[in-house]
Amino acid sequence: MQNINEDTITQAVIASLARCDRPRLRTIMTSLVQHLHAFARDVALTEDEWAQAIAFLTEVGHITDDKRQEFILLSDTLGLSMLVTTQNNVKPSNCTEATVFGPFFVEGSPVYQNGDDISNGAHGAPCYVSGQIRGVGGEPIPFAHLDVWQSDEDGFYDVQTPDASGETVMRARGRLTTDEHGRFHFRSILAEAYPIPHDGPVGRMLAATGRHPWRPAHLHFMIAAPGFETLVTHVFRNGDPYLDSDVVFGVRSTLIADWIEHAPGTAPDGTRFDAPWYSLDFDFVLNAGAA
Ligand code: BEZ
Ligand code: FE
Repeated sequence: MQNINEDTITQAVIASLARCDRPRLRTIMTSLVQHLHAFARDVALTEDEWAQAIAFLTEVGHITDDKRQEFILLSDTLGLSMLVTTQNNVKPSNCTEATVFGPFFVEGSPVYQNGDDISNGAHGAPCYVSGQIRGVGGEPIPFAHLDVWQSDEDGFYDVQTPDASGETVMRARGRLTTDEHGRFHFRSILAEAYPIPHDGPVGRMLAATGRHPWRPAHLHFMIAAPGFETLVTHVFRNGDPYLDSDVVFGVRSTLIADWIEHAPGTAPDGTRFDAPWYSLDFDFVLNAGAA
């Protein structure tokens, strides 16, 4: 096709997809082209702005490696991650809601027993976390697997603070299994609010658009059990000043809970805290389905 103009270009690109023999890919590409072209028309995109966008995406690629995922940050801060999460996690109303996965999950984190301290030296106020995992009918889910991960009191995940040799010591993350009553408990540190990494192109985009980079204090959970949908979620700390302006739009009111402050003393499992400590008790309800 020759002499394509502003009015015929969109249809020409869509027609070029005619030989794509993967129906889903063709649907996605057709819609992507329609929306990209509509966007460029809508804002009357200039050549200079187009070049800036290409330079921005190039920088997002260059800063991304196995420890820093700027594309996920971009998706998160544009609300795309939360949109994909919500439209793929429609569940019965008494199920625990899902929220964003984020870029700081690590495969193969340390395995702990109920009662262990998963902080592994991460700095923060001591904390005791407990709860039960149930199905929608209220039945406890024994031997469910929990992955837990969180930042330290300075707002950093272990993967952001490698040691002098560049190795990551896994801290404030771990894998646990519920007991025969679906219950779990562990020690860790108090969740604190933190800014997402904002020293790269996504941080510049936030600053240029008048946005802050903060997430309210939260604890990440990924919970899996045979016969249930895997749940990826957080528990958010009640009272946090960023609950209404989470930079990645992940807060659900049903996921907000109280961390209760205690004087030194005995924890629910009979062990002692010699310094002031916090407790969080939160139950999760999983939807039936394939893991
Ligand atoms: C997180 O909660 O770990 C996170 C989520 C989205 C972007 C950055 C961090
Ligand atoms: Fe987080």
